[in-house]
Amino acid sequence: MFNDELVKKIRAAFPRAEKDYTGRKRAFFDNGTGTLVLERAAKAEAKARVDCSANIGANFDESKLAKETVKEGKEAVAEFLNAPSGDTIVSGESATRLLFDVSYAIGKECNGTENVVITELEHYANVSPWNELVRQGKIKEVRFARMNLEDGTLDFDHLQELIDSNTEIVSVTSASNVTGTKIPLEPVRKLAKEADSYFVVDAVHHVPHGLIDVQKIGCDFLVFSGYKIFGSHGSYMYMNPEYMENLRPYKVKPSTNTGPGKWESGTRNQAMFASIKGVMDHFLWISEQVKSQYEGKFKEYSGKRCDYKIAMSATQQNERELSKAVLGGFDDIPGLLNIPKVKIYGITDVNRINERDPTFAFTVDGIPNEDIIKYLWAEGGIATRAENFYSYAVEVFNQQKVNRISLVQYNTLEEVGIFLKALNTICSRK
Ligand SMILES: Cc1ncc(COP(=O)(O)O)c(C=O)c1O
Repeated sequence: MFNDELVKKIRAAFPRAEKDYTGRKRAFFDNGTGTLVLERAAKAEAKARVDCSANIGANFDESKLAKETVKEGKEAVAEFLNAPSGDTIVSGESATRLLFDVSYAIGKECNGTENVVITELEHYANVSPWNELVRQGKIKEVRFARMNLEDGTLDFDHLQELIDSNTEIVSVTSASNVTGTKIPLEPVRKLAKEADSYFVVDAVHHVPHGLIDVQKIGCDFLVFSGYKIFGSHGSYMYMNPEYMENLRPYKVKPSTNTGPGKWESGTRNQAMFASIKGVMDHFLWISEQVKSQYEGKFKEYSGKRCDYKIAMSATQQNERELSKAVLGGFDDIPGLLNIPKVKIYGITDVNRINERDPTFAFTVDGIPNEDIIKYLWAEGGIATRAENFYSYAVEVFNQQKVNRISLVQYNTLEEVGIFLKALNTICSRK
């Protein structure tokens, strides 16, 4: 758990946590779209840009440093995901791009009879790459496992029904970027592996909220993006080494035929690896701050894994307290559950807070989303938005757009209070 002093220190690590670049005090609640950047990540990125802008592969110092920067960044990502080594991490421009790359490569192996099973909770980054395979005739169909409309959870029985011997890929999000609802990944892996399918995980939304362990999940591919976890743009994908070698991504002839380099088209941006290393160092720093609270716990973890476990557990605990306040209110301020006319999409039961990330989608009967968002910004200094968020789930809820707030480690109870007061005010207007 974070105490007040630690929250202050964490906020101090983000130059824009308190005020935006114009000097306006505001609460940043648009984190699901892209978080604020850590000072240490931004500085490391800028330094790498200047010190090792040279391309890797030569024997002079800048080139050697560029190579080392990429290696260190990948190793840090591998440790954070509990991947076997930095050589199992493929980098790319975005999570969307990496998922398309996987779909192209697997599509080459298909004969038009296969299906891909996904869920109604997905971001389109985990929908369109598979639909594209249907369009090209590489697979027969994409099947969508139902989302339970009342709480945004996955209908697991339906998922089970959809998977059969022709299922080539099962690909799911670890958490919806709209409702925050998490999908229990290990049971899905079990079903995917029983059907001898590839198992793909889109961890883009969940990554700042909980510890990921690719070996425990047992996935073949797992992707996340640096800009959703306090770093720069650029994304990272864990790949099962066997598939990394055996699949055939599109590549230019002279590039390597083995390892991540086979998948990484063109030249890397080494500065993004410096940035992500800075992000991982920040989590190690959080662990130092809260370690004493976890003495004797997590004995099955060692070294940096234990530090990441501690840091993410404390982060999660803190976020769960904020989530309870968002839903249930506090100090006489009504929460989302108690504001008349507010409809919440997703889990609303505070006793089930561990099944969701701190991301809340809502609409207000009779008040257009745009008016809500404008008011929150003008009166409360709440930076957030209403959109479809490229989410398939928004369509399933039969909405074009929803309002969304998504919180991360630098958000505070005070900010939640400001948000709720502003929302209460606009909702109480006739
Ligand atoms: C769950 C989820 N998946 C994928 C993406 C796409 O990520 P990227 O912008 O890195 O392609 C997003 C972005 O919002 C997301 O929330």
